[in-house]
Formats: sequence, structure tokens, C-alpha cells
Amino acid sequence: MANEVQLSRRGVLAVGTAGAALTAVAPTAAQTPRAESAPSRMPVSIEVNGAERTLDLDTRTTLLDALREHLHLTGAKKGCDHGQCGACTVIVDGKRINSCLSLAVMHEGSKVTTIEGLGAPENLHPMQAAFIKHDGYQCGYCTPGQICSAVAVLEEIRAGAPSHVSASLTDRPEPTGEEMRERMSGNICRCGAYSNIAEAMAEVAGARA
Ligand code: FES
Ligand code: FES
Repeated sequence: MANEVQLSRRGVLAVGTAGAALTAVAPTAAQTPRAESAPSRMPVSIEVNGAERTLDLDTRTTLLDALREHLHLTGAKKGCDHGQCGACTVIVDGKRINSCLSLAVMHEGSKVTTIEGLGAPENLHPMQAAFIKHDGYQCGYCTPGQICSAVAVLEEIRAGAPSHVSASLTDRPEPTGEEMRERMSGNICRCGAYSNIAEAMAEVAGARA
């Protein structure tokens, strides 16, 4: 019996030693070096300013980078790249979005309008003309985003979408200065052209700033 116990102990020790050796040699799953995988790419078709554009993109590409770096539409600006300044605002399927927060591959088949598509120097959009008339900018860095946002804001009001300052969730809001300021609060202007922007918007809306 004593021998059996002795043998068993040896056996256990032998197995234990072999196991320890294996453990030392074989890396755990967490330690296994991963093969570097290439970033995945996808074709994406987006209608940009009325023209169908197909791009082969790294799936991590933001809509802003697709517009600026791949289509060379540099009107939309990269201010913060974190959804905090509104400089990258473009209109997608009639709604304004921060293009820095949206992946291009999410917009397959979408219609995107940038500041370049709103109007041209010889044929300005009424909002662009009003910004010029009312000096709605100084350095101009935020301006493409401000104008895209302003155009979409007036559409939101026309469509009856309430905001945080709307008196009623069901009645159609009026394009008041308060409504427009609230809805434009995501577009930061470091030059402080806010009152002039409000006047430009009010003129286009046919309202008081
Ligand atoms: Fe997109 Fe600032 S660059 S919100
Ligand atoms: Fe300079 Fe707005 S005009 S940041």
C-alpha cells in the first residue's frame, strides 16, 4: 500500500512536471501573437451634390474624410473631429449631421449635400447670399457648417419638428429668433458672429432675428 502511494505520488509529480513544462512552452490564447490583419475595405456609392460617386474605402473612414480626402470637397471643415463644433455639418437625405461622427459606409445610397452643392459664387443659395449681406462670418472656418445647418434648420421648422424651446410638441413651431438660436447651438463660431448669423437666417425665414 505504501508503495502504491509512493508510486502514485511519483506519477502525480511526473504528470505535474510535464504539465508545467507544457504550460511553460505553449503560450496561452491571450499570449498568442495575432497576425496583423489588413483593414477591411468596401465600395460605397453616395450621391454627392447630385452626382453619383463610388469610392473604395477603408470601412473606418468617416463621411467627413471621404468628402474631404477622397472627393476633395474641402468646404466641410474638421474643427474638432469629435462632434462638438459643427464645422463638419453636411445635409444627408435632408437632415443635417456632423459628418465627423458618421462612417461613410453607413451612407450607401444616401444623398449628401455639402456647401459646394448648395450654391456657387455665380448662383448663390439664398442663405449664402444672406450670410454675405449680414456679415455672418469673420474667419469663415465655421461658415460652411453654419450655412448647411441654417438651411436644414429652416427646413426642420417648416416641417414642424419641435425643439427644446418649442412651446408645443404638436403645434408647428414659428421661425423665431429663440427657435433658430436653439437649433443652431451645435454650431460653434469662435469669431462670435452669432448675431449676424441670426440676422441672415431671419431674413431667409422672413422673420425677425
Ligand atoms: Fe465634426 Fe467638430 S469637426 S463636430
Ligand atoms: Fe470664424 Fe466662425 S467665422 S469661427
